[in-house]
Amino acid sequence: MYIGLDLGTSGLKALLIDEAQSVIAEATAPLAVSRPHPGWSEQSPADWLAAASAAMDGLAAAASLSGVKGIGLSGQMHGATLLDASQNVLRPCMLWNDTRSHKEAATLDAAPAWRDVSGNIVFPGFTAPKVMWVRNNEPEIFEKIAMVLLPKDYLRLWLTGEAVSEMSDSAGTSWLDTGKRDWSDPLLAACDLSRETMPRLVEGSEVSGELRKELAERWGLPDGVVVAGGGGDNAASAVGVGVVNAGEAFVSLGTSGVLFAASDAYQPDPATAVHTFCHALPDTWHQMGVILAATDALNWYAGLVGSDAASLTNELGALRSPGRAMFLPYLGGERTPHNDAGIRGSMTGLEHATDRAAGTAAVLEGVTHAVRDSYDALASTGTRFDRLIAVGGGSRSDYWLQAIATSLDMPVQVPVAGDFGGAFGAARLAMMAATGAGAEIAVIPEISKVVEPVKDLTSAFAEAHARYRDTYQALRGLS
Ligand code: XUL
Repeated sequence: MYIGLDLGTSGLKALLIDEAQSVIAEATAPLAVSRPHPGWSEQSPADWLAAASAAMDGLAAAASLSGVKGIGLSGQMHGATLLDASQNVLRPCMLWNDTRSHKEAATLDAAPAWRDVSGNIVFPGFTAPKVMWVRNNEPEIFEKIAMVLLPKDYLRLWLTGEAVSEMSDSAGTSWLDTGKRDWSDPLLAACDLSRETMPRLVEGSEVSGELRKELAERWGLPDGVVVAGGGGDNAASAVGVGVVNAGEAFVSLGTSGVLFAASDAYQPDPATAVHTFCHALPDTWHQMGVILAATDALNWYAGLVGSDAASLTNELGALRSPGRAMFLPYLGGERTPHNDAGIRGSMTGLEHATDRAAGTAAVLEGVTHAVRDSYDALASTGTRFDRLIAVGGGSRSDYWLQAIATSLDMPVQVPVAGDFGGAFGAARLAMMAATGAGAEIAVIPEISKVVEPVKDLTSAFAEAHARYRDTYQALRGLS
């Protein structure tokens, strides 16, 4: 048996699978985000450990863990967890959707070495500019930094006692030489850091350490349980849905929205704002476009109108032509394709007839147009795929899936009921680390339905997408 732990933004999930990869039990614990100032997004690393304890207690209560051989980790990417020489946390973790360090990001990004070596724009959400923000604004904290860890790697430190990361998440720090799959000494030195302040690197499917005895005893696991490298949540989800070879892709509608394509070569194209990262498997890379608010935008709207996401999406009927109301989901800024930390969300084209349902449709369509933006950005790098698998909470909305299928004019496949996200992918990586298996065990799950494009509406969605892009151009600089 294998356990996958996924440290998400809104909660931590623990999932137990057997040797046939069937899910035996799962447990979750919620997490909250603190937004003390505009553009800030933080969590306390102590809350992650409390959530992991609670979820593992829940898993141990639901099933015997005595046959577990491996644990895999998946996690929200890019967060800067800063530790002192005694491994104490120095400040709250600045998360992936924290855009306060946009000035530091622009300064780093202006030096060509960053894009040349890391293969990516230095986005404000990435780790390096956050640490520069700390250097500029909290120098007394910066001086004490002895180790910088990504969120799931802080969890690993607690589970194993080892400071280790893996390639897929590390590629989102801006300090990784993404083609060579190693830390870049010059890029670290440019931030007054060094290899000594960074964790050791393994591949996602390799062993990173062993579960500490004390924790194994608490949850009834045997001695010698290995902890796999794991992956950033997007790469781990890709392993979960079997997106491990070139030509395979998925769309994730979670707190963030992601359009992800696997590739067997390192082909960066930073100018497109596409992310080119290592995959969680050796010698494999991936590209993705990232939308900072997907279900986050729907949940925001649900809160505004006093409802919840499921009720709102259930009251929409079949897919309709986009109306006048146009929503830009940039509640906390934008990543692909504009890299605009300053823009904020907007709802335009409101008229007397705009009701709650029209607002819901506009929110789902706005995120759909953002997915289309990412698709165009991926296509401009030469990445090709002709179908998509959908994952994440938002994939429960047929309206949303139909909108995406129609906008991208390609079928969207929905896996059978179950959880094929980051936790499942992490459990598969644990199985690889414990048994020596490889990508062949990351098969595509059984597909329960295929959502086809609504051909009568493809041109209406293309026109609405053009209007969406024009709206951004008209509004940029205003907010
Ligand atoms: C990816 C990104 C998000 C987070 C969400 O670059 O920022 O998808 O990983 O957890």
